[in-house]
Amino acid sequence: ADGLNSRAKAAGKKYFGTEVSGQVLNDGSANAIAKNAEDFGQYTCENEMKFDATEPSRGTFSYGNADKIVAQAQANGQLMRCHALVWHSQVPSWVTNGRFDNATLISIMKNHIANVVGHYKGKCYAWDVVNEALNEDGSYRNSGSVWGSTIGPAFIPIAFAAAAAADPAAKLYYNDYNCDRPGAKSTGAQNLIKMVKAYGAPIHGMGLQGHLTTGQVGSASQYVSNMQAFANLGVDVAFTELDIATPSSSPNFGQQATDYATIVSACKQVSACVGITTWGFTDKYTWISNSAPLIWNTNLQKKPAYDAILNAWGSS
Ligand code: G3I
Repeated sequence: ADGLNSRAKAAGKKYFGTEVSGQVLNDGSANAIAKNAEDFGQYTCENEMKFDATEPSRGTFSYGNADKIVAQAQANGQLMRCHALVWHSQVPSWVTNGRFDNATLISIMKNHIANVVGHYKGKCYAWDVVNEALNEDGSYRNSGSVWGSTIGPAFIPIAFAAAAAADPAAKLYYNDYNCDRPGAKSTGAQNLIKMVKAYGAPIHGMGLQGHLTTGQVGSASQYVSNMQAFANLGVDVAFTELDIATPSSSPNFGQQATDYATIVSACKQVSACVGITTWGFTDKYTWISNSAPLIWNTNLQKKPAYDAILNAWGSS
């Protein structure tokens, strides 16, 4: 037996995983790929655990769609990275339109976290507690975020403390994009981690989303030094949403394979990098319009990236 996950584990990692959605569960041929634990040792729900899905109206919680994904993972011995508790996007309108004051919004956030993390207690290897709280210059996002604009950056450590109280065993992550290489936003994420720790709340990991573009990935060394900077703060790192866009009309699958191998090689070189999750596995179900960013094509055939990833992990 051999596959993306088997090779990752042989290289000392915890998993190679994929985002899974209800669409995949309802597509038997695609789901057969998702169920193969040789390739995928971990799932992340695409939308099913987000605030609008799990608390569509105040105090009413809805877990049916996410529970199906968790049940499939458990049946196949696959870990769950659970995503995402506090994010400015996919927040239901009862939260954003409510004009709640600071204290009320804090209690809404804490109640949401207690319920959702409590429901999945013991089933989530990791939680993305706070998602995308930074601007591109590394400052805290206020504009467009009900959390940042009402509570201020204090919502971040409060969220981590609430998640830790609800499931003390889960690894608690901050997760964001454009933090993959050294730069202002990556520095901002390092400052955010220090801030959470200074507050006395636990934080265990930095999630590098990794929404990348074919031909713009560069060399492994930048990713290695960036991951090492997070590791030096005492946290794990993971690629949590990797996909590498190339236009479906004129794709460059050879370069894409090289670029996937670069990220795998970088993770392999950093002991604090626990694993890689791709944001889906087939181009049939990517979130990016007119793009072919994943490892299986729309006909569920393996692309060159598949063997490139195997080779980058090394022998099984
Ligand atoms: O559920 C509604 C449905 O009722 C409605 O008919 C339909 C019409 O547009 O929309 C459906 O909601 C869509 C939802 O996905 C569920 O399919 C939203 O429009 C659509 O915006 C939403 O997109 C998701 C996106 O997050 C939202 O920001 C993508 O599927 C999902 O892949 C993407 O994932 C994010 C990560 O969570 C965080 N990092 C970035 C990543 C990519 O954007």
